[in-house]
Amino acid sequence: MSTRKKLIAGNWKMNKTAADAVTLAQELVAAVGRQPAVDVVVCPPFTALESVARTLDGSLIKLGAQNMHAEPSGAFTGEVSAPMLRALFVTHVILGHSERRQLFGETDPAVNLKTLAALKHQLRPIVCVGETLAEREAASTLKVVQAQVERGLEGVGKDHAANLVIAYEPVWAIGTGKVATSEQAQEVHAFIRGLLGKLFTDPVAQRIRILYGGSMKPANAPELLAQKDIDGGLIGGASLEARSFLDLLAAAAAS
Ligand code: PGA
Repeated sequence: MSTRKKLIAGNWKMNKTAADAVTLAQELVAAVGRQPAVDVVVCPPFTALESVARTLDGSLIKLGAQNMHAEPSGAFTGEVSAPMLRALFVTHVILGHSERRQLFGETDPAVNLKTLAALKHQLRPIVCVGETLAEREAASTLKVVQAQVERGLEGVGKDHAANLVIAYEPVWAIGTGKVATSEQAQEVHAFIRGLLGKLFTDPVAQRIRILYGGSMKPANAPELLAQKDIDGGLIGGASLEARSFLDLLAAAAAS
C-alpha cells in the first residue's frame, strides 16, 4: 500500500459560467464535508475562480486553475499570472495540458518556465504529459513521455519536487471514451516514477503523486486506482456533474 494520499482533480475546461460553477461547487461542498479521505481539487475556468473560491471557503476542497503565464506581470494581453491566482486562493495549476500543447502551441520549454514560476509562487503544478495515438502506435510512448517529463521539470530543485503533481494523460484517451487499460497506464506511471527517482532521488519520487487522466469514469476508476503507481485522476467530462465526480471520489477513497 502506498502512503501517498489519493488526489482527484476536476478539470472543468471551458465549461460553466460563474453561476453554474458555483452551483456545482455547492453540491460538492455539501457532499464532501470536511474530512474527505482523498485530496480534492476543482479547476474551473478563470472567470469562475473568484466565486468558486468563496463557495469552497471553509471546506477541504482545493481550487486549481487550468493554465497561467510564467511571468508575474507585464504586457501579456489575455494572460493571467501566478500572483493573480494566489490572490484568489488558488493552490494548484494545471500546466501543459495536451489541449494547450495541441491547440495553443505550448511547448516543453514553455511548460518548464510555467512550472518553475508556479513552484516559486507556492502553487502546486499539475504537469500533464502523454503520447498521441500515432506515437503509441509507433511504440514511442515512453520516449515521448520521458522527453516531456525531463524538459518540463528541468531546473526543479529536489526540495520543491514533492510539491509537483504529474498527470499522465494519453492524448488518444482524452474525451474519447477510450480509456487506457490499467496495465498500459501502470506501465507508464511506473516509468515516470523511475524518471522522477533519477531526477530527484527515490524517496522524493515516492512522495510525488502521479494522476491518470483520459476518460476516467466511475466504472473504470476502481481498476485504474488499484494500480501501485496511480495516485488519483485528472477528470474532464466526469467532473462536470456532481454525481459522477462524487462517485469518483468514493472510488478513490475505497482504493
Ligand atoms: P476526460 O478529460 O476525462 O474528459 O477524458 C481529461 C482531461 O483532459 O484532463
